[in-house]
Amino acid sequence: MERVVSGIRPTGKLHLGNYFGAVKSFLQMQKEYDCFFFIADLHSLTTHPKPSDLHANVRSVLAEYLAMGLDPEQCALFIQSDIPAIPELYTYMNMNAYLGELQRSASFKEKIRTQPNNVNAGLLTYPVLMAVDILVHHADYVPVGKDQQQHLEMTRQFGNRFNRLYEQEYFTEPQAFSFTGELVKVPGLTGQGKMSKSSGDADTVIFNEDDEVIRKKIMRAKTDSGPTSLNQEKPEEIQNLFDLMALVSDSSTLEHFDQSYANCEIRYGDMKKKLAEDMVNFISPIRERIREVERDEGYLSKAAKIGADKANESANKTLKEVREIIGFRKFY
Ligand code: ADP
Ligand code: TRP
Repeated sequence: MERVVSGIRPTGKLHLGNYFGAVKSFLQMQKEYDCFFFIADLHSLTTHPKPSDLHANVRSVLAEYLAMGLDPEQCALFIQSDIPAIPELYTYMNMNAYLGELQRSASFKEKIRTQPNNVNAGLLTYPVLMAVDILVHHADYVPVGKDQQQHLEMTRQFGNRFNRLYEQEYFTEPQAFSFTGELVKVPGLTGQGKMSKSSGDADTVIFNEDDEVIRKKIMRAKTDSGPTSLNQEKPEEIQNLFDLMALVSDSSTLEHFDQSYANCEIRYGDMKKKLAEDMVNFISPIRERIREVERDEGYLSKAAKIGADKANESANKTLKEVREIIGFRKFY
C-alpha cells in the first residue's frame, strides 16, 4: 500500500478551516493508504513553549484528531517525540544540508523578519527535520498546502543527495498530494481571506467552543446593506457566508438563500440565524466527543502507544539500514 506522511503542528484549537482543509481528507486517506499522521512537537520547540503548555497542546490536538475520527487501528497517529529514531536521523541528515540552501528557504527568511530576536538553529534546520519525518517512513505522498511545497522540494533534494553520496537508491521521492483534487479554502468570519487563527478570535469557528459563542460570532459576521439589483454578484463577505453555509447546511437551505439574494429579498439576520443553527448542529456533536476523549486518559494513552509502536517499527527499520549504509558498524 502506498504511504502517506503528514505532520500537524500542536498549536491552538482546531477550527472549521482545519477540518475541511485537512482533517476531512485525513479521514478518507486512512482508509485507502498506509498513513502516518503525527503531532510535530519537536518542531514546536523552536518557539520555546513552557513545558506545561507543550504537553497540554499535544494532548488537546491528540484528543481532537481522535474525536474527529482518526482511528489508531487504521492509521499510525503518533507523537513525534515518541520516535527516538527521528532526532538521530536528523543528526545524520544535517551533515548533508548546506547553509546556503537552508538560509534561502522562504519560511526561514520569514522567521528572520517576524521574530528577529529568536532566530535559532532549529529554525534554520527545520526543513531537515521535516525531511526526516517524511523520509524515515519512505513516504510516497505528503498532503501539504502551498506554503509547505518548498519544504517538500528540499525533502526530495536531501533524500536524493543521500542516495548519491552513498550510491544507493535508498530514499523514495515523496510527492505533494491533494486528496480531493482541489484545494479547499474555508473563508473566515471577518470578511477577509481564509479562516485562520492568526486573524484573531472573531474570524474562526473553533470546535472546542460553546454553542452560544459560535452563535454570537456568526451573528456578528460582517454583511452589507443588501443587494440592490436582481442577480447581482456577491461581495466577498457575503459570498463567505454562502460558502460557510455550503459546508454545514443542506442544499435546499443554500438554494433558498441564494434565490432570495438574487431576488433582492434576502434578510441577512435570518440567513445568519439559520447558518448559526446549522453550524452549532455540525460542531456540537464533535465538540462533545472531543470533551469525552479529553477526559478519557485510558483511551488517549492507548491511542498514543499504538501509534508510537507502529511508527517506531517503521522508523527503527530505516535507522538500522541508514546506519549500515553510512558505515557505522559495531565493535561489540
Ligand atoms: P491556521 O491558518 O489557522 O494557522 P494551520 O496553518 O495550522 O492553520 O493549518 C493546519 C491545516 O489546516 C493545514 O493543512 C491548512 O492547509 C488547513 N487550513 C487552515 N486554515 C484553512 C482554511 N481556512 N481553509 C482550508 N484549509 C485550511
Ligand atoms: N511544517 C509543517 C507545517 O508547518 C508541519 C510538518 C512537520 C509536516 N513535519 C511534517 C507536514 C512532515 C508534512 C510532513 O504545517
